Amino acid sequence: MNQPQTPKFFGRRKGRTIRCAKTVLLSDFLPRLRIQDEQQIDKHLFGTPVDKLYLEIGFGNGEHLAEQARRNPNIGFIGAEVFQNGVANLLTLITGIKIKDDLPETITLSADRVDNIRIYDNDMRLLFKQIPDQTLDKIFLLFPDPWPKKRHANRRFVNPDNIAQMARCLKKGGILRIATDHKVYKHWTLQQMRNAPQFKWTATCGNDWKHEPSDWVQTKYQRKALAEGRRPIFLDYQKI
Ligand SMILES: C[S@@+](CC[C@H](N)C(=O)[O-])C[C@H]1O[C@@H](n2cnc3c(N)ncnc32)[C@H](O)[C@@H]1O
Repeated sequence: MNQPQTPKFFGRRKGRTIRCAKTVLLSDFLPRLRIQDEQQIDKHLFGTPVDKLYLEIGFGNGEHLAEQARRNPNIGFIGAEVFQNGVANLLTLITGIKIKDDLPETITLSADRVDNIRIYDNDMRLLFKQIPDQTLDKIFLLFPDPWPKKRHANRRFVNPDNIAQMARCLKKGGILRIATDHKVYKHWTLQQMRNAPQFKWTATCGNDWKHEPSDWVQTKYQRKALAEGRRPIFLDYQKI
Protein backbone atom coordinates (compact mmCIF):
# COMPACT_ATOMS: atom_id res chain seq x y z
CA MET A 1 0.00 0.00 0.00
CA ASN A 2 1.26 3.49 -0.83
CA GLN A 3 2.15 5.50 2.29
CA PRO A 4 0.93 9.15 2.18
CA GLN A 5 3.92 11.44 1.57
CA THR A 6 4.76 13.66 4.53
CA PRO A 7 5.41 17.20 3.32
CA LYS A 8 8.62 18.81 4.60
CA PHE A 9 7.91 21.36 7.37
CA PHE A 10 10.24 24.34 7.77
CA GLY A 11 9.01 26.29 10.86
CA ARG A 12 9.60 25.64 14.59
CA ARG A 13 7.81 22.77 16.30
CA LYS A 14 9.40 23.20 19.74
CA GLY A 15 10.47 26.37 21.52
CA ARG A 16 11.72 27.10 25.04
CA THR A 17 11.05 24.36 27.55
CA ILE A 18 7.32 24.20 28.10
CA ARG A 19 6.47 24.90 31.72
CA CYS A 20 4.76 22.30 33.88
CA ALA A 21 1.07 23.29 33.65
CA LYS A 22 1.39 23.47 29.90
CA THR A 23 3.00 20.04 29.77
CA VAL A 24 0.10 18.55 31.74
CA LEU A 25 -2.44 20.33 29.54
CA LEU A 26 -0.76 18.82 26.47
CA SER A 27 -0.63 15.30 27.90
CA ASP A 28 -3.98 15.19 29.73
CA PHE A 29 -6.33 17.66 28.07
CA LEU A 30 -5.22 17.93 24.45
CA PRO A 31 -6.24 14.30 23.65
CA ARG A 32 -9.88 15.28 24.39
CA LEU A 33 -9.78 17.95 21.69
CA ARG A 34 -7.29 16.47 19.24
CA ILE A 35 -8.35 15.62 15.70
CA GLN A 36 -7.12 12.14 14.88
CA ASP A 37 -5.52 11.12 11.58
CA GLU A 38 -8.23 9.88 9.22
CA GLN A 39 -11.01 11.51 11.30
CA GLN A 40 -13.43 13.31 9.00
CA ILE A 41 -14.01 17.00 9.64
CA ASP A 42 -17.69 17.79 10.07
CA LYS A 43 -20.13 19.44 12.47
CA HIS A 44 -20.39 16.32 14.65
CA LEU A 45 -16.84 16.63 16.02
CA PHE A 46 -17.86 18.96 18.82
CA GLY A 47 -19.37 18.49 22.26
CA THR A 48 -22.03 21.07 21.45
CA PRO A 49 -24.35 21.53 18.45
CA VAL A 50 -22.85 23.89 15.86
CA ASP A 51 -24.32 25.24 12.65
CA LYS A 52 -21.15 26.51 10.94
CA LEU A 53 -17.53 25.40 10.67
CA TYR A 54 -14.54 27.76 10.77
CA LEU A 55 -10.88 26.80 10.36
CA GLU A 56 -7.85 28.74 11.61
CA ILE A 57 -4.53 27.76 10.03
CA GLY A 58 -1.39 28.43 12.10
CA PHE A 59 -3.17 29.85 15.14
CA GLY A 60 0.11 30.69 16.94
CA ASN A 61 -0.64 31.32 20.62
CA GLY A 62 -4.35 30.84 20.02
CA GLU A 63 -5.62 34.26 21.15
CA HIS A 64 -7.69 34.79 18.01
CA LEU A 65 -9.07 31.25 17.95
CA ALA A 66 -9.96 31.20 21.66
CA GLU A 67 -11.74 34.54 21.52
CA GLN A 68 -13.61 33.82 18.26
CA ALA A 69 -14.81 30.52 19.73
CA ARG A 70 -15.93 32.21 22.95
CA ARG A 71 -17.87 34.89 21.04
CA ASN A 72 -19.50 32.35 18.68
CA PRO A 73 -20.74 29.34 20.69
CA ASN A 74 -22.84 28.12 17.75
CA ILE A 75 -19.80 27.81 15.43
CA GLY A 76 -17.40 24.87 15.47
CA PHE A 77 -13.73 25.91 15.24
CA ILE A 78 -10.90 23.76 13.91
CA GLY A 79 -7.45 25.08 14.76
CA ALA A 80 -4.27 23.78 13.14
CA GLU A 81 -0.86 24.60 14.60
CA VAL A 82 2.45 22.73 14.60
CA PHE A 83 4.14 24.76 17.33
CA GLN A 84 3.59 22.87 20.62
CA ASN A 85 4.04 25.89 22.86
CA GLY A 86 1.30 27.64 20.89
CA VAL A 87 -1.05 24.67 21.27
CA ALA A 88 -0.31 24.62 25.01
CA ASN A 89 -1.03 28.34 25.25
CA LEU A 90 -4.40 27.87 23.53
CA LEU A 91 -5.21 25.23 26.16
CA THR A 92 -4.45 27.69 28.98
CA LEU A 93 -6.79 30.22 27.35
CA ILE A 94 -9.72 27.85 26.97
CA THR A 95 -9.37 26.17 30.37
CA GLY A 96 -8.59 29.40 32.21
CA ILE A 97 -5.61 27.68 33.85
CA LYS A 98 -2.73 30.08 34.48
CA ILE A 99 0.80 28.76 34.12
CA LYS A 100 1.55 29.32 37.80
CA ASP A 101 -1.73 27.82 39.05
CA ASP A 102 -1.87 24.54 40.90
CA LEU A 103 -3.58 22.18 38.52
CA PRO A 104 -7.08 21.04 39.50
CA GLU A 105 -7.88 17.31 39.79
CA THR A 106 -9.90 17.46 36.60
CA ILE A 107 -9.16 19.89 33.81
CA THR A 108 -12.25 21.35 32.15
CA LEU A 109 -13.13 24.19 29.81
CA SER A 110 -13.60 27.50 31.59
CA ALA A 111 -17.16 28.31 32.61
CA ASP A 112 -17.69 31.02 29.97
CA ARG A 113 -17.31 28.74 26.95
CA VAL A 114 -18.82 25.73 25.19
CA ASP A 115 -17.06 22.72 23.70
CA ASN A 116 -16.66 24.17 20.17
CA ILE A 117 -12.90 23.88 19.46
CA ARG A 118 -11.01 20.94 18.01
CA ILE A 119 -7.25 20.98 17.50
CA TYR A 120 -5.00 19.53 14.82
CA ASP A 121 -1.47 19.76 16.29
CA ASN A 122 0.29 18.98 13.05
CA ASP A 123 0.94 20.35 9.60
CA MET A 124 -2.26 21.76 8.09
CA ARG A 125 -1.38 20.38 4.68
CA LEU A 126 -1.93 16.87 6.07
CA LEU A 127 -5.40 17.75 7.35
CA PHE A 128 -6.82 18.87 4.01
CA LYS A 129 -7.51 15.27 2.96
CA GLN A 130 -9.80 14.85 5.99
CA ILE A 131 -12.00 17.78 4.98
CA PRO A 132 -14.77 16.94 2.49
CA ASP A 133 -15.52 19.36 -0.37
CA GLN A 134 -17.55 22.46 0.56
CA THR A 135 -17.49 21.88 4.32
CA LEU A 136 -16.12 25.13 5.74
CA ASP A 137 -17.81 28.52 6.11
CA LYS A 138 -14.65 30.49 6.84
CA ILE A 139 -10.87 30.05 6.88
CA PHE A 140 -8.52 32.32 8.81
CA LEU A 141 -4.89 32.46 7.71
CA LEU A 142 -3.51 35.23 9.90
CA PHE A 143 0.07 36.39 9.60
CA PRO A 144 1.45 33.28 7.93
CA ASP A 145 5.25 32.95 8.13
CA PRO A 146 6.45 35.29 5.36
CA TRP A 147 9.57 33.44 4.22
CA PRO A 148 10.71 36.70 2.61
CA LYS A 149 13.78 35.36 0.81
CA LYS A 150 13.16 34.54 -2.82
CA ARG A 151 14.78 31.13 -2.49
CA HIS A 152 12.27 30.24 0.26
CA ALA A 153 9.21 31.34 -1.73
CA ASN A 154 8.10 27.73 -2.14
CA ARG A 155 7.64 27.50 1.66
CA ARG A 156 4.95 30.21 1.72
CA PHE A 157 1.56 28.84 2.73
CA VAL A 158 -0.23 30.98 0.16
CA ASN A 159 0.61 29.02 -2.96
CA PRO A 160 -1.41 27.43 -5.78
CA ASP A 161 -1.70 23.98 -4.12
CA ASN A 162 -2.93 25.32 -0.77
CA ILE A 163 -5.20 27.89 -2.44
CA ALA A 164 -6.80 25.06 -4.43
CA GLN A 165 -7.31 23.02 -1.25
CA MET A 166 -8.79 25.96 0.65
CA ALA A 167 -11.14 26.67 -2.27
CA ARG A 168 -12.21 23.03 -2.36
CA CYS A 169 -12.95 22.92 1.37
CA LEU A 170 -14.90 26.20 1.49
CA LYS A 171 -18.60 26.35 0.76
CA LYS A 172 -19.73 28.54 -2.11
CA GLY A 173 -19.89 32.06 -0.65
CA GLY A 174 -17.47 31.09 2.16
CA ILE A 175 -14.68 33.47 3.17
CA LEU A 176 -10.91 33.07 3.18
CA ARG A 177 -9.37 35.78 5.38
CA ILE A 178 -5.65 36.43 5.03
CA ALA A 179 -3.76 39.03 7.07
CA THR A 180 -0.12 39.92 6.71
CA ASP A 181 2.22 42.67 7.88
CA HIS A 182 5.14 41.78 5.62
CA LYS A 183 5.68 43.79 2.45
CA VAL A 184 6.96 40.84 0.43
CA TYR A 185 4.02 38.68 1.53
CA LYS A 186 1.49 41.46 0.79
CA HIS A 187 2.54 41.59 -2.86
CA TRP A 188 2.91 37.83 -3.06
CA THR A 189 -0.58 37.17 -1.65
CA LEU A 190 -2.29 39.73 -3.87
CA GLN A 191 -0.59 38.23 -6.90
CA GLN A 192 -1.32 34.60 -5.97
CA MET A 193 -4.96 35.38 -5.22
CA ARG A 194 -5.38 37.36 -8.46
CA ASN A 195 -4.46 34.11 -10.23
CA ALA A 196 -7.07 32.10 -8.28
CA PRO A 197 -10.30 32.02 -10.31
CA GLN A 198 -12.12 30.27 -7.42
CA PHE A 199 -12.06 33.48 -5.34
CA LYS A 200 -13.14 37.09 -5.61
CA TRP A 201 -11.67 39.81 -3.40
CA THR A 202 -14.47 41.46 -1.41
CA ALA A 203 -12.75 44.86 -0.93
CA THR A 204 -14.63 47.78 -2.41
CA CYS A 205 -12.32 50.56 -1.19
CA GLY A 206 -8.99 51.03 0.61
CA ASN A 207 -10.62 51.09 4.02
CA ASP A 208 -11.74 47.51 3.60
CA TRP A 209 -8.26 46.09 3.62
CA LYS A 210 -6.25 48.68 5.54
CA HIS A 211 -8.37 48.41 8.66
CA GLU A 212 -9.28 45.53 10.93
CA PRO A 213 -12.59 43.85 10.03
CA SER A 214 -15.39 44.39 12.58
CA ASP A 215 -15.09 40.83 13.98
CA TRP A 216 -11.31 41.07 14.38
CA VAL A 217 -9.28 39.87 17.40
CA GLN A 218 -5.73 41.18 17.83
CA THR A 219 -2.88 38.82 18.62
CA LYS A 220 0.50 39.30 20.28
CA TYR A 221 2.11 38.82 16.88
CA GLN A 222 0.05 41.66 15.43
CA ARG A 223 0.76 43.99 18.37
CA LYS A 224 4.49 43.37 17.91
CA ALA A 225 4.24 44.15 14.20
CA LEU A 226 2.40 47.41 14.93
CA ALA A 227 4.93 48.37 17.63
CA GLU A 228 7.70 47.82 15.08
CA GLY A 229 5.96 50.02 12.52
CA ARG A 230 4.60 47.32 10.18
CA ARG A 231 0.99 47.96 9.17
CA PRO A 232 -1.00 44.82 8.46
CA ILE A 233 -3.43 44.39 5.60
CA PHE A 234 -6.63 42.37 5.94
CA LEU A 235 -7.82 40.55 2.84
CA ASP A 236 -11.19 38.80 2.62
CA TYR A 237 -11.77 36.57 -0.41
CA GLN A 238 -15.10 34.99 -1.21
CA LYS A 239 -15.36 31.55 -2.76
CA ILE A 240 -17.27 31.93 -6.00
C1 LIG B 1 3.85 34.18 12.23
S1 LIG B 1 2.98 33.01 13.14
C2 LIG B 1 1.37 33.78 13.33
C3 LIG B 1 0.55 33.14 14.39
C4 LIG B 1 -0.89 33.64 14.56
N1 LIG B 1 -1.68 33.39 13.38
C5 LIG B 1 -0.97 35.09 14.97
O1 LIG B 1 -1.46 35.90 14.18
O2 LIG B 1 -0.53 35.42 16.07
C6 LIG B 1 2.62 31.71 11.96
C7 LIG B 1 2.21 30.41 12.62
O3 LIG B 1 1.83 29.46 11.62
C8 LIG B 1 2.27 28.17 12.03
N2 LIG B 1 2.37 27.32 10.83
C9 LIG B 1 3.18 27.53 9.77
N3 LIG B 1 2.98 26.60 8.83
C10 LIG B 1 2.01 25.76 9.31
C11 LIG B 1 1.38 24.59 8.81
N4 LIG B 1 1.72 24.09 7.61
N5 LIG B 1 0.44 23.97 9.55
C12 LIG B 1 0.11 24.48 10.78
N6 LIG B 1 0.67 25.60 11.31
C13 LIG B 1 1.61 26.23 10.59
C14 LIG B 1 3.59 28.44 12.71
O4 LIG B 1 3.97 27.41 13.60
C15 LIG B 1 3.32 29.76 13.44
O5 LIG B 1 2.82 29.55 14.74
